[in-house]
Amino acid sequence: MSDYHIQLDRQDRLVHFLTVEGLTHRHLTEILDTAESLRGVAERRIKKLPTLHGKTVVNLFFEASTRTRTTFELAAKRLSADVLNLNIATSSAVKGESLLDTLRNIEAMQCDMFVVRHEQSGAAEFIARHVKPHIAVLNAGDGRHAHPTQAMLDVFTIRRHKPDFPNLSVAIVGDILHSRVARSLIHALNILGAGEIRVIAPRTLLPAQVETLGVHPCHDPRQGLRDVDVVVMLRLQRERMEGALLPSEAEFFQRYGLTEERLALAKPDAIVMHPAPINRGVEIDSRVADGPQSVILEQVTNGIAVRMAIMSITLGHHARSTEENA
Ligand code: NCD
Repeated sequence: MSDYHIQLDRQDRLVHFLTVEGLTHRHLTEILDTAESLRGVAERRIKKLPTLHGKTVVNLFFEASTRTRTTFELAAKRLSADVLNLNIATSSAVKGESLLDTLRNIEAMQCDMFVVRHEQSGAAEFIARHVKPHIAVLNAGDGRHAHPTQAMLDVFTIRRHKPDFPNLSVAIVGDILHSRVARSLIHALNILGAGEIRVIAPRTLLPAQVETLGVHPCHDPRQGLRDVDVVVMLRLQRERMEGALLPSEAEFFQRYGLTEERLALAKPDAIVMHPAPINRGVEIDSRVADGPQSVILEQVTNGIAVRMAIMSITLGHHARSTEENA
């Protein structure tokens, strides 16, 4: 059984959130609409809802993170959950016993949800298969495989600016090969029926047979950026590169970096996105990152409402599902 299935219960409800793959338009829309309704919480005098009052959420981070961990923490706190942050020194692999031992210890603290980031693809799924049935598991990024909450905050941000998905043209530029963000975003855009997805990168930074993901590959940003509505820039994931895949950062910027001139090829009202951390002068020019078309910081803000939505949906379904099976 793949991770498509383990995240849904018998009624097809989302009980873990491990990957966007295999979900339907209905699942994604439920998350987006719930996030939309939760967005206003941040504007209230008391930025809290009681939804997860009495629940304990554990952030289990085996890999570095700034935005993802903190926005998960804020999301949980705005839903009145108690939050435990565990930053565990990176291990080189999912070491069966030791990861399970960690899990058993945290389980013994009577937690209700694990938010997991791990350098190994499949780690969140592994945990979901081994935790006690009442615990919901959310994937906060596993290796190169998936980063589903990032994909949801990305499509949420796109939908707020460009709701007409069938006529939407999106360009994803940079290190597609090592990017879990790109993989999850491509799946989400395809499920939501986005008109066209282009991936723009040197050959060495595109996965083999990338077309099978439902995208058009392109090696020249002058063609790829033409008339798009959304430009998503990605960081060069040096920590995941083996050997020299690139000439130099300066050359990469010269050929692929998003400058004002290149952005002018896109539609005049195109938005510029980036999951961050951004590397100024490598994949993006500061004038674009800080410019009027950039929605990069809006993505961070939206990440809170989207994560609140995913937490309340999975935990709500989970509770119902475990009661039904009891
Ligand atoms: C991304 C990640 O960790 O996958 N960042 C994030 O979660 N906002 C992208 C990256 O590291 O480049």
